[in-house]
Amino acid sequence: MPILYSPENHVFHLQNANISYIIRLVAGKYPIHQYWGRRVRAIHADAMERCCTQEEENFTLHGLPLDTLPQECPVYGCGDLRQGMLEVRQADGSSALDLCYVSHEILKGKPALKGLPSARGDDAETLVLRLQDEHSGVEVELSYTVYPDVDVIARNLRVINGGQFPLVLEKALSACVDFENAHEQLMTLSGAWLRERQIYTRPLTPGNQGVESVRGASSHQACPFMALLKPGAAEDSGEVYALSLCYSGSFLANVFVDSNDMARAQIGIQPFQFSWELKPGEDFQTPEAYLCYSPNGLNGMSREFHHLCSRYITRGAFAHAARPLLINNWEATYFNFNEEKLLELASCAKNAGIDLFVLDDGWFGHRDLDNCSLGDWVDDRRKLPEGLRGLSDRIHGLGLKFGLWLEPEMISPDSDLYRAHPDWCIHIPGRMQVESRNQLVLDLSRKEVREYVIDAVCAAMERGNVDYVKWDMNRNINMLHSDGLDSAHQKELNHRYILGLYEILEAVTSRFPNVLFESCAGGGGRFDFGMMYYMPQAWCSDDSDAFMRCRIQYGTSMLFPVSTMGAHVSAVPNHQTGRITPLFTRAAVAMSGTYGYELDLTKLPEEELEEIRRLNEKVKALQPLLLYGEFYRLRSPFEGNETAFMSVSEDQSEAIVTHVYGPAQPNMLPVLLPLRGLDPEKDYRDVESGRIYGGDELMSHGLTIPRTWGDYMATQLHLVAVK
Ligand code: GLA
Repeated sequence: MPILYSPENHVFHLQNANISYIIRLVAGKYPIHQYWGRRVRAIHADAMERCCTQEEENFTLHGLPLDTLPQECPVYGCGDLRQGMLEVRQADGSSALDLCYVSHEILKGKPALKGLPSARGDDAETLVLRLQDEHSGVEVELSYTVYPDVDVIARNLRVINGGQFPLVLEKALSACVDFENAHEQLMTLSGAWLRERQIYTRPLTPGNQGVESVRGASSHQACPFMALLKPGAAEDSGEVYALSLCYSGSFLANVFVDSNDMARAQIGIQPFQFSWELKPGEDFQTPEAYLCYSPNGLNGMSREFHHLCSRYITRGAFAHAARPLLINNWEATYFNFNEEKLLELASCAKNAGIDLFVLDDGWFGHRDLDNCSLGDWVDDRRKLPEGLRGLSDRIHGLGLKFGLWLEPEMISPDSDLYRAHPDWCIHIPGRMQVESRNQLVLDLSRKEVREYVIDAVCAAMERGNVDYVKWDMNRNINMLHSDGLDSAHQKELNHRYILGLYEILEAVTSRFPNVLFESCAGGGGRFDFGMMYYMPQAWCSDDSDAFMRCRIQYGTSMLFPVSTMGAHVSAVPNHQTGRITPLFTRAAVAMSGTYGYELDLTKLPEEELEEIRRLNEKVKALQPLLLYGEFYRLRSPFEGNETAFMSVSEDQSEAIVTHVYGPAQPNMLPVLLPLRGLDPEKDYRDVESGRIYGGDELMSHGLTIPRTWGDYMATQLHLVAVK
């Protein structure tokens, strides 16, 4: 039984073979967070024994000192002096709540969330706890799902107005964990455009710390995730507690350390610039949060998130399938192409063993630069004389699949769409528009705008008979205001935008179940589980420099599996950094993602094309292992001059190890690299050299990485178990 309830002591015990999560109702009223971690049979200790400091300092309600109790759904104002998960403004203007247990239910499986992406869970169990504030009529449903095969608890919260007066929700987070001591490090993934998901670790200190986005997207700057590391935790050992969110908009991930060294970790929709009216009888559903406990360090945590993502979040025909090797024309031509140039590139790609040709930005309206035409999804006949269909037919005729770039959420001020509907963008009437990349954001909170977007996208996809779509989004949201909402509801816009986006994605992806969708937001500006639910892969970063990609992909792998990370071989000198890296290094790095090319192949010498042909054969042969094997980080580019990682097949019969150096350093010994995840009882043969090693030897002693000559050199070894 994954969820046990003992009525005599009011304890709910969620468990699988590895983890326990225990909630206890104190005084039969308040759900207290009693334990989360390695599986235990039971917790007999009484949280109440530890909760009082010096009595006179404690606020009490019903005799309970809520300010010092670890809680499951804390709210400010009735004895807890810390910030809580919920803020509900009531008819009299106050917002204190006293949420007490009413009932509970244990469900088989996992209900889907209304209007929001969520993980599946047929073989999971879900606990729903119902709480109520009698004074206001506010009702809250806390849901917890425990999986048999993934060490993650999925949580969400639903607020219902069960009273007689309208309420205004000013904060509604998805999960809160009150840790009883704060002797941890906090790890987050932060960055910028071209430098996404860099790893930052620092000690927790009293007060608030964490990451957030107020940009209307999960953002390049921060990933909706944080991990608390117990003392000594590292890649392969020690205890890690992580929270992440299945949401693509503005979010908050915060830890507050109080004077008793308790750490309150919370994650959910960003409360800044958020409010939501609830009329009597209405409800609000928060996005889903994932709580992961790993006793096996960060690598252990990542594998649980990877399993969650690939088993329960990604959907559709490509979730577990081979992915086409693609060529994208963006860095090859930018806006400067015509059909002849595209076909030349495509036929060269076909000869090199590539499967899919992707036409990027610049095929519609009169878009020769990034200053016009978004919203006018009409084929540019100057560049494509017979339109998308003509090009698509020729690409298909070459034996390639055809893919198309779209940026459906945006509108250029210089577009027919804008001239016809100037009010369809997010704007404040009477104020000057704030542009970014010369564009504005369509107001997806409005039904007529959503309908336009769905129709325009589907029409272009049908016209182009496309096999793949790159769904881009190149600016964040600011100057919040919608003509579709009255003044009292403007702070609903951020979340309504994301709900509108999800509705569009559901409509489009279900209309084209056999099309592969890749999400993109100026590279990795919306790399989150929410987008992953609709689209199984995402362009990891606009930075295609292999050396920088080592960091970006290493950071991204904290949460997301290799099969989600779009990664391409691009030209040298690299267009973002000017760096020159060897072709093999660029390929080896791209192999730890969904593999493709983004350069003008027609300009390469024959020897390089020959090497590309060989690399493509290798990627195709090894794709199941590369994309769907167990991924282990071995050497961090954030800690030294090397990056190393490996993938191991599920049955441990083969592995591929990649090691990449930074700038060359003279007079260094060859590296000895201990491996992970192999079967200690098996022997493995290095396919290239024929040498045989024991699995135990490779993990305990290590594999010698040969000395290399030159900057940014990569070594890749394919190990196969000897029968
Ligand atoms: C964004 C994407 C790029 C490319 C351009 C086109 O920056 O991340 O890959 O598609 O838009 O304008």
